[in-house]
Amino acid sequence: MRISSFNIRNYRTSDFENYVQLHMEANTLDRSVRSVSKRRLAEDLGHPNFNPQNDLFIEELGGSIIGYAGVFLEPAIHRAILDCLIHPLHRRKGVATELIRHAIRRAGEADCKVVQVYIPQINLPARNLASRLDFKYIRRFYGLTLDPQKIRLPDVEPSGYVIRSLAADEASKLTHIQNRAFADSWGFNPNTPAEIAYRINLSSCSPENIMMAYLNHQPIGYCWTRIMMEENPEADEIKGEIHMLGVDPDFRKRGIGRNVLLAGLSHLKSKGVSVVELTADGEEQLALGLYESVGFDVYSRAEWFEKKLA
Ligand SMILES: CC(C)(COP(=O)(O)OP(=O)(O)OC[C@H]1O[C@@H](n2cnc3c(N)ncnc32)[C@H](O)[C@@H]1OP(=O)(O)O)[C@@H](O)C(=O)NCCC(=O)NCCS
Repeated sequence: MRISSFNIRNYRTSDFENYVQLHMEANTLDRSVRSVSKRRLAEDLGHPNFNPQNDLFIEELGGSIIGYAGVFLEPAIHRAILDCLIHPLHRRKGVATELIRHAIRRAGEADCKVVQVYIPQINLPARNLASRLDFKYIRRFYGLTLDPQKIRLPDVEPSGYVIRSLAADEASKLTHIQNRAFADSWGFNPNTPAEIAYRINLSSCSPENIMMAYLNHQPIGYCWTRIMMEENPEADEIKGEIHMLGVDPDFRKRGIGRNVLLAGLSHLKSKGVSVVELTADGEEQLALGLYESVGFDVYSRAEWFEKKLA
C-alpha cells in the first residue's frame, strides 16, 4: 500500500548509525544491493564536494531510516548524480518517488541542468522508476573483469619515460594528468587537488597503488588501481579495481596506456588480487579494445539515464 503522508527531511550528522543500519539490512535482505562498509559510507558522506545536510534526504519511520535519496552536485558541468536506496520491507509504497522529488528539486536549486543516474541493466525496479520519473537513456557502460593470477603479464619496458607509484605528496601531479587525460571524456567533472588528495587517502586507495608514467618528472599517463579490502573482509578473494586509466592527449598512440595498465595489473597481482574489475564507456572503442587485448571480459552492463531540469 502506498504511503499517504511522508516524513522526509534533510540528513543530520546524528543519523549516521541509522543510515549505516539501512545499508546493512538492505544488503542482507536484497543481495543485489552492494555491500558497503561503515567506513566507506563515512568516507562517501565526508567527500569534500558533498554536503549531506543539504544534498541528502531521508524518510524516517518509527526512529529508523527507511530510505534516502541524494544528489552529488557537479556545478562546473551543471550536473547532479542521483543515488537512492529504499529498505526492502518498505518498497513499492512511493517512498523513492517522493525522496527523489526532493533530491531533484535540490539539484535545480543548485543550478544543475541535468540529473543523471547509473543503473545496472538487471535492476528492473530502478529502470521502471527512472522511466516513470521521465529519465531518458543516454549512455551504456560495461563492467569488465579479469583474474590477474591466471594470466601471464608481459614485462613492461617503457622507453624514455619511467613508471613508478605516485608519491604521497604528488596529489597535484595526479590532478593535472587526470584533468588533461579526461578533458574530452563524456561526463567528466574536472577535479581539484583537494578532492584528489581526499580520494587517494580513502580506505580502498593508497598512492602506492597508483602507477604513474613520468617523462622528465612530468606525468604523461597513469593507472589508478584500488584494492577493496573493506568491502568484503570475509571473502576469500581479494578484489581490485582499475579505477582510472589515462594518457595525456599529447602522448597517445605510443603504447603508454598499455604499459601503465600492465604495470597496474602487475601491481595488483603482486598484492594477491584475484579479481580485477573496471567499468568502461561503451562508446570508448579504443579503451575497450585495450582492455580486451590484455584479457578482460565483459561481465555486466549498466546505463546512464538523464532527466533534464526545466
Ligand atoms: C529502485 C528502488 C529505489 C525503488 O524504490 P520504491 O520506494 O520501491 O519505489 P516507488 O514505490 O516509489 O515505486 C515507483 C515505481 O518504480 C517502479 N518499481 C518499483 N519497484 C519495482 C519492482 N519491484 N518491479 C518493477 N517496477 C518497480 C514502478 O514503476 C513503481 O511504480 P508503481 O508501484 O506505481 O508500479 C528500490 O527498489 C531500491 O532501493 N532498490 C535498490 C537500490 C537501487 O536500485 N537504487 C536505484 C539507483 S539510484
